[in-house]
Amino acid sequence: MTKQELCQKAIKMMDMAYVPYSHFPVGAALECSDGTVFTGCNVENAAYGSTICAERTAIVKAVSEGHRDFVRIAIAGKSRDFCVPCGSCRQVMMEFSPEMEVICLNGAGESKTFALRELLPYGFDHTWL
Ligand code: THU
Repeated sequence: MTKQELCQKAIKMMDMAYVPYSHFPVGAALECSDGTVFTGCNVENAAYGSTICAERTAIVKAVSEGHRDFVRIAIAGKSRDFCVPCGSCRQVMMEFSPEMEVICLNGAGESKTFALRELLPYGFDHTWL
């Protein structure tokens, strides 16, 4: 799948977001090393802390289907600046694929690509244990 196609999937997933509290939809599309793509959206809750981000929705879907090796993730938001993943999502990405790429889109559909290690330097992972 091209980067453009992956980004389009993330953009489309914003339509699935359940965001009655923040009104800030986020979509994600996660590409695995075998080419399989899992999508996700944010799912909010009246108990705010029970909200799950779009990125972790996609990752949990992938892991629960037997996929743990990720190449890249596209994240789409309607923000002016690029929609970067929160700290918890960075940490969950680090658990499975420290070398993955993170493609962040803004509301204009422009993208900026980061290495996960740039976003989470000195990240804690299984090698510490
Ligand atoms: N959110 C995500 O889904 N991913 C991000 O990268 C940033 C934040 C969600 C959580 C919440 O539903 C809303 O955006 C506002 O924080």
